[in-house]
Amino acid sequence: MSGHREATTLLEVTNLSVSYKDGTASLHEVSFSMNPGEVVGIVGESGSGKSTLLRAVMGLLPAGGRYTGGEICFQGQMLLGNDTLVQNWHGVHGQRMAMVFQDSGSYLNPIRSIESQYVEAIRAHLPMSRKEAKELAVRTLASMGLDDPERVMRAYASQLSGGMKQRTAIAMAASLKPELLLADEPTSALDVTTQNEVLNQLSRLCAEQGTGMIMVTHNMAVAAHMADRIGVMLNGKLVELGDTLDVISAPLHEYTRKLLNAVPELEGDMHD
Ligand SMILES: Nc1ncnc2c1ncn2[C@@H]1O[C@H](COP(=O)(O)OP(=O)(O)OP(=O)(O)O)[C@@H](O)[C@H]1O
Ligand SMILES: [Mg+2]
Repeated sequence: MSGHREATTLLEVTNLSVSYKDGTASLHEVSFSMNPGEVVGIVGESGSGKSTLLRAVMGLLPAGGRYTGGEICFQGQMLLGNDTLVQNWHGVHGQRMAMVFQDSGSYLNPIRSIESQYVEAIRAHLPMSRKEAKELAVRTLASMGLDDPERVMRAYASQLSGGMKQRTAIAMAASLKPELLLADEPTSALDVTTQNEVLNQLSRLCAEQGTGMIMVTHNMAVAAHMADRIGVMLNGKLVELGDTLDVISAPLHEYTRKLLNAVPELEGDMHD
């Protein structure tokens, strides 16, 4: 199965397993692949391994976490292979693969203005002058519904609300035009209206740039709205993965049915 890869495959994950120090398996033989520009939504209950999966793909397991098996191939480059003997994310982070963490606002540098870190991040990855980078930053911040992007640029992280920090972190990751964006509950700190606006903008940006995305959410309705395919995690396993419409109209796994039953508004969507 893993021997044959189409040239167009963006990401191929095969039998990926991760354990933390106490020995419990947090990911158990997870396999899936993605095409360029595809959006995959990952749902599942708290502790099912969603964040661990994104961090594992990004090569940034938290301290105490380790790969115990599997392969990750990104655009034909083996990031993890030979049952974990190969671990090489060199040249991948940043422009080619970027991550929005679950509490992404707290990853902003507290002692530098947003402008200084944002402009530097863009220029480290894209060939732009300081002025062009600043314009791109301001534009992207505005597209995330931040009313006064110039003020955000001058601010330090501590001067911004949780939702503003989160939108800033999303803007920063998305404007690097990565091939793959890993977004872990990217809008969890936002109210419902802002959440919709940011998700729509994020979808639009990804579509425009051809950016593929794995988006973790505990909200099945959000996944159904955003994703081409939906994956369902339970106890460290990917128990279901299919086209969004198939998953919501004919779920294969008992647990997926349970998740769907908890979202009454999806029925309305399906009959539109
Ligand atoms: N740094 C860590 N050290 C030890 N165990 C961890 C660590 N991070 C996660 N785990 C364990 O791995 C399992 C999966 O956790 P993970 O954070 O991936 O879940 P999740 O699906 O993202 O949950 P949530 O929806 O609450 O964010 C859990 O059993 C958790 O306790
Ligand atoms: Mg998580």
